Amino acid sequence: MKHAEKGLFISFEGIDGAGKSTHIQATADAFKAEGRDVTLTREPGGTPLAEKLRQMVLGDAMDPLTESLLVFAARRDHLTTVILPALERGHVVLCDRFTDATFAYQGGGRGFSLSTLTQLERWVQTVGASFKEPDLTLWFKLEPRLAAERLASARVPDRFESQSEQFFKAVHNAYLDRANAAPERFAPIDASQTKEQVWDQLHAVLKNKKWLKL
Ligand code: TMP
Repeated sequence: MKHAEKGLFISFEGIDGAGKSTHIQATADAFKAEGRDVTLTREPGGTPLAEKLRQMVLGDAMDPLTESLLVFAARRDHLTTVILPALERGHVVLCDRFTDATFAYQGGGRGFSLSTLTQLERWVQTVGASFKEPDLTLWFKLEPRLAAERLASARVPDRFESQSEQFFKAVHNAYLDRANAAPERFAPIDASQTKEQVWDQLHAVLKNKKWLKL
């Protein structure tokens, strides 16, 4: 059965400390207020299997290929069992990180082969005859130095959050490359502004697309 509303797949990206988490919840509330069904999820994770893989990726030391294979394995399970069925039901799927994070962290941060990641991306995100990726990526763009300052006063760091500023510069630059390669999909949000201003920017992007009415 076809649903009246078309499913929307929106990912949220940015270096640790960019402040995307609070805005994902606000985005979910805004869509729900306009009567849309929302699936709020995250990567690595979003399914029981993928959450187990997340624990390993965030907690255990491993080489960059192993790390990349685990995040893509988690992604395949998440995509086929949660994201695609939700889109089919007409949901707005809000995903806290997706493949751009792999290019940024494993590719940029760890310096792992971009061509191998590109190959994995093709395999994992091809379902049937079609390649699936977000319709929109909201990129919380923040200078690595500012992000590090915000993180220093926050939670106990995981394997990524405890990395050096150099690592985050490389992550940031890799996001920049992905954004430049797909400008129609990426919407950069200046995350150095106040919470209210960041929300106004994000809201304007969704209104311009006519995905939110109010
Ligand atoms: P989170 O703290 O935003 O939930 O993200 C978890 C961490 O996992 C974050 O530091 C980025 C990292 N990560 C990767 O290294 N590769 C990936 O593909 C994804 C999705 C996240």
